[in-house]
Amino acid sequence: MVMANKGVFQAGFNENNQEFIISGKLRPSNEIELESLLRGIEEAVANVQGRFYLNVKRLAYINNIAFCALHRVIAQLSSRRLDVQFVIVTSSVLGWSTRKFSAIAQRNDNVAVAEYDTEFYPGQSFLEDGGFIPILRNQTRLTWRHERDLLTQHGLQPGTDVADICCGIGDFAVLLKKEFDPSRLLALDHSRSSLEYARKIASDFGLTDIEYVYGDAAELLIADNTFDFVTCRHSLQIFDKPDMILRELFRICKPGGRVYVTNEKNSHCLGEPRADSIQWTYSEVAKLFSHFKMDVEYGPKSGRYLMDTGFEDVKVDTFMVTNRDGDPQDFAAVIQAWEDVYAGQMARDRGDSAEFIARFRQGFQDHISAALHPKGYAGWPIWAASGRKPL
Ligand SMILES: C[S@@+](CC[C@H](N)C(=O)[O-])C[C@H]1O[C@@H](n2cnc3c(N)ncnc32)[C@H](O)[C@@H]1O
Repeated sequence: MVMANKGVFQAGFNENNQEFIISGKLRPSNEIELESLLRGIEEAVANVQGRFYLNVKRLAYINNIAFCALHRVIAQLSSRRLDVQFVIVTSSVLGWSTRKFSAIAQRNDNVAVAEYDTEFYPGQSFLEDGGFIPILRNQTRLTWRHERDLLTQHGLQPGTDVADICCGIGDFAVLLKKEFDPSRLLALDHSRSSLEYARKIASDFGLTDIEYVYGDAAELLIADNTFDFVTCRHSLQIFDKPDMILRELFRICKPGGRVYVTNEKNSHCLGEPRADSIQWTYSEVAKLFSHFKMDVEYGPKSGRYLMDTGFEDVKVDTFMVTNRDGDPQDFAAVIQAWEDVYAGQMARDRGDSAEFIARFRQGFQDHISAALHPKGYAGWPIWAASGRKPL
């Protein structure tokens, strides 16, 4: 059963996992508008045994009318079906979600709240598990030699307050610390495993003054106008609503300060020889990410989005990481890490055929050969953009 209300919310029951899923926004002006939703929940519960899941982790908004109606129905059903354990699945990404739904659990013994967040953003699970660590590690090593100078041109000055939002495994923060010695350096991410890794590396290097913080870039628990320079690298491109993050970056930046973002245009990765095979694979990378609602073609759009958010003096630079920059083995390692994740878990999760995956992998291998061949050329273009928050 799938129901929808004017495209505002979607709901449906998955019998296999006994899970009733509500996503979107629930903002009825009266309970009657929710009649079919509430009836749907009742019908679903009538057919379950053991455990019933009410999955609200993608429910982005609920007004009081809807919450009271849901509360009443769950309370009634749970007291009628004492043989069933009701589990409300919330998301830590939405600050209010667990807190609000816990009120229902507190008043009903067979109702519990479980907080999950790895699936809230379409690509979250790929990004948060360990598979991304080798990608991020090598990427930062390759981009730093370009970014070190660019950061100065984009207004980063030593001894200022800096935040790196979506910091990943923290390598960039460590490099910032060493090069620019900020007076305050906060690095925030939503992946606990990446933060754990980041803290370990920092402590191995004896760096004690980087604040590694768990948080949601779309809803930062940071006061307005806090930082002189805010960075967010390779991350707007992996959110389905990058404008939400940009607004937060704008908010926490001090007036007169700057926000600096980097993003890619994956379909423009290139190489010689075997240019066609390489180009085909990277066009497919862009389609694969877009299947998971991520726009890895965001780079050239970033200047426009900064302007639309209200930034002024927007600067946009492009640089190309190539096999000619340094050790070609480093670039080859990045490409291999991309292949492992993109043609591995991501392609499998999309349901790609073995035939497609073989061709997909071939393009990465051709890119690696181009990077390692003495006469070859391999490139990965990146857009670095920044804007000033008006005074
Ligand atoms: C492609 S990685 C880039 C990491 C890092 N900036 C770099 O360039 O190496 C994207 C990062 O965004 C983080 N992320 C995903 N969703 C997030 C959220 N809602 N809030 C904060 N970080 C998030 C992921 O955990 C991941 O570390």
